[in-house]
Amino acid sequence: MKFTVEQHATLRRAPETLVLFAFEGEDRPTGAWESFDASLQRKFASAAKNEDFTGKEKSTLTFYPADVKPAKRIVVAGLGKRDKFGGERLRRAAALAAQRCRSASVANALVILPDATGDARAYAQAVVEGVVLGLYEFKKYKSGPKDKPNGKLEQVRFLAGSAKSARAYAEGTRRGDVLARATCLTRDLVNEPALTCTPRFLAEQARAVTRGTRSVSIKVFDEDQIRRMKMGALLGVAAGSAEPPRFVHLHYRAPGARRTVALVGKAITFDSGGLCIKPADGMLNMKNDMAGAAAVIGIFQALAELRPKVNVHGIFGATENMPGGRAYKTRDVLSAMNGKTMEIINTDAEGRVTLADSLSYAAKLKPDEIIDMATLTGACVVALGPEISGILGTQQDLVNRLASAAREAGEKLWQLPLDEDYWDMIKSDVADMKNSGGRFGGSITAALFLKEFVDKEIPWAHIDIAGPALSDQAGPYKPAGGTGVMVRTILNYLESRES
Ligand code: BES
Ligand code: MN
Ligand code: ZN
Repeated sequence: MKFTVEQHATLRRAPETLVLFAFEGEDRPTGAWESFDASLQRKFASAAKNEDFTGKEKSTLTFYPADVKPAKRIVVAGLGKRDKFGGERLRRAAALAAQRCRSASVANALVILPDATGDARAYAQAVVEGVVLGLYEFKKYKSGPKDKPNGKLEQVRFLAGSAKSARAYAEGTRRGDVLARATCLTRDLVNEPALTCTPRFLAEQARAVTRGTRSVSIKVFDEDQIRRMKMGALLGVAAGSAEPPRFVHLHYRAPGARRTVALVGKAITFDSGGLCIKPADGMLNMKNDMAGAAAVIGIFQALAELRPKVNVHGIFGATENMPGGRAYKTRDVLSAMNGKTMEIINTDAEGRVTLADSLSYAAKLKPDEIIDMATLTGACVVALGPEISGILGTQQDLVNRLASAAREAGEKLWQLPLDEDYWDMIKSDVADMKNSGGRFGGSITAALFLKEFVDKEIPWAHIDIAGPALSDQAGPYKPAGGTGVMVRTILNYLESRES
């Protein structure tokens, strides 16, 4: 889809559809539409009255004023009350407007942004994100004639009131487009069945984002190389699977950047639970257990396009967790790359086991900070529900910055305590630690386990995305399935760390 910005004076082609926004309880759409059609007010008022449209959130009004100047159709999306307005409201309303345009087979639309205090660039970005994410569908495995991904919608133009706002809009639309497409790539990877989305496939997908750019390089390690690096934990989990593991290291370099961030993703391409096998309903969605790594891949696609001035490593150890004849067993002791050992209490607590090696590898690179994303614990879903990710970390400043980046992206993060007193729950008699501390405080003990593989002097944050990685129900700008959660949050965060 193409996004462009135009000023009224240069508005050449008439749009097929005009997209406007309205605040709840106001008798006119918001934004500078007067120059477009001064008589629009009257037409809007009568259409709104006929359709009982009041500008509430989640509502839209579509009308076809016969005598309207250029546009033949007008779609107005409700924003709710003006005093509650923000980027997220706009993102949601834009998604709904885009879906209306798609069902009406609109090919090109002209958007007039709301007239509200705030950052014009951020508003343009929010609209583009809403449009691209709101139209996302995973149709790869549907047979029959293929519709175009966005229906007929090919072009969305933004009408800017001045040269200055045109520049802000242009920057916002570009960023929104890059971030939203990266999120869609992550969604595609999460939605891909484990039948095809194997560790080797995931490594290939990571390689694909390095093509056509010199800013990102990649190293992919096979099983022998993983053994030579002494990643006994990753190998332990991989032992029960017929699919060989892969270890992936992406590297984005920004000339002159002073800060280096390492991103680590959990990459279990299918989590059967291993010998501690999951019941069928618990296993159902476990193709999504690589959503952390999928986010890393999406983020790197965007980094190559945005080129922020910050260096970034992307790391994941990919494997299946299967109960094959060579599978790792309870009471086995595995040794991670950093030399620490773990006693296996439950083969279904495999994520932290594989992350032990990924975090050890990341720490050896001596980055300024490490952030991991993992569909790690069912306990986090119990605690925070399906829409809120848990965050735990060793430096409050890092946690706070990530929380504010998430707020900007309209994603939800809530901090859980990394309480050292719970360490006793994962103490082992035979090894340095156990891989499970039981049900209580499961997200906290999992994080305490991970912390053992990050050097103390490196600030570290762990984001548990077990709930939000996949949605059972369609949300405002996401259909059911992979969500691409954290891609936009982390990209916002990385851009805030430019130097
Ligand atoms: N991948 C799961 C966690 C998960 C659960 C993700 C639900 C998404 C939705 C993880 O590997 C797991 O099985 N965790 C166990 C840990 C337990 C055995 C200590 C869990 O949460 O039950
Ligand atoms: Mn598991
Ligand atoms: Zn898992």
